[in-house]
Amino acid sequence: MISMQSKPRASHSRYVLTPWSAQGALDMPTIERAEGCYLYDTTGKRYLDLSAGLVAVNLGHGHPTVVRAIAQQAAKLCYAAPSFFNDTRAAVAEELVRLSPWREGGRVFFTTGGGEANEDAMKMSRMVSGRHKILAAYRSFHGSAPGAGTLSGENRRWPNEPGIPGVVHFFAPFPYRSPFFTDDPAEENRRALDHLESVLVYEDPSRVAALIIEPVVGSNGVIVYPQGYLEGVRELCSRHGILLIFDEVMTGFGRTGAVFASTRFGVTPDLITFAKGCTSAYLPLGGVIVRENVASYFDEHVLGCGHTYSGHPLAMAAAQGALQAYREDGLYERALTIEGWMKELLGSLREQSPLVGDTRGIGAFFAVELVRDRSTREPLVAWQGQTQGQMPALLRALRERGVYVFGRYNVMLVTPPLTIARDELASGIGAIADVLRGVQVS
Ligand SMILES: Cc1ncc(COP(=O)(O)O)c(C=O)c1O
Repeated sequence: MISMQSKPRASHSRYVLTPWSAQGALDMPTIERAEGCYLYDTTGKRYLDLSAGLVAVNLGHGHPTVVRAIAQQAAKLCYAAPSFFNDTRAAVAEELVRLSPWREGGRVFFTTGGGEANEDAMKMSRMVSGRHKILAAYRSFHGSAPGAGTLSGENRRWPNEPGIPGVVHFFAPFPYRSPFFTDDPAEENRRALDHLESVLVYEDPSRVAALIIEPVVGSNGVIVYPQGYLEGVRELCSRHGILLIFDEVMTGFGRTGAVFASTRFGVTPDLITFAKGCTSAYLPLGGVIVRENVASYFDEHVLGCGHTYSGHPLAMAAAQGALQAYREDGLYERALTIEGWMKELLGSLREQSPLVGDTRGIGAFFAVELVRDRSTREPLVAWQGQTQGQMPALLRALRERGVYVFGRYNVMLVTPPLTIARDELASGIGAIADVLRGVQVS
């Protein structure tokens, strides 16, 4: 007999294709509702959302200001073609420009998500510069569709190959596993910038339209670049007339302790792509904030980008509500407080478990990197390997303890809603410690 619980689960597996997964092995709870930092499944079991979904639900779940804004908009206008003017769209764009790092201002192009935003940022850079090459880092993720997928510097690019022409990858710093054979962050920076300069020489900088980079690497392990690296990249781009795109899809909207990582680091790109936290993921929305001197190119030239859902009224209402909630609840800077708790609690996790090779991050954006052996730093699961090794079992054990964590290969992302309390964070990290105690390394 099929119980009330198992029927929807069975039909989910039967009819839904789940992203980035071999479908046969899926075993996830059926989520029915969510509130604050918690998700609830159909059995009533509660899960602490220690990764804010996919590093997106920055306001926590069910924030009333956003829910109300969506409901009110739904009653008024659910859709108008993007060619129409719309007051909510104008208000959201104006606020995003005011939050951007540019004194001279800018303009916003709206998309449905982060990958699409990166595709459009790349197209805009090509149109404005008349050049075609785009530089992107290895160990990066910029989206799934062929353009953004080709920009991605990791194995989620491979299904797109041969990909789109003109994308060239370079290595960026990674202090814990230096691609530049040094333990000294200053030396790492110097060698990384020398490497980038060499790549430019071999590619001809006058053919390079843009360089795209996550100001803090996200799903590839929360890598905070040593101080000076992003400044050096900015200088190289300026010197060669290359547009600098910051992919702030994960880092935006308070994740690093400022509205954008760009503001936290004081490094100013030419285009910022965003998504996720813009609506706290309540509705799909992304976009490109374009510095005025770049955007004004399109006053006389056709902007060759467009989507049926660009500036969708419901997504605009969700963004307007979310921006209001960040402001009223003081959440853009709250990650600075969370950063202190993270350092203390993850430091103690590292002391408790020899499997924890590194903990690193900024704001409310941290990673736990698991190793077989601290001295050799051999990863617990081979990065970019054919399987996720022990990670699915570890994540399942965490869910059994009522904690949801997003993890890939040997890295877990500790990136909670910005509303999390210290004791909630401590209990989530405590569950990670418990689960790691049960791991046998062969
Ligand atoms: C840095 C970064 N860029 C782009 C994307 C793609 O965004 P989306 O899934 O909304 O297309 C992601 C998704 O995780 C991301 O982390």
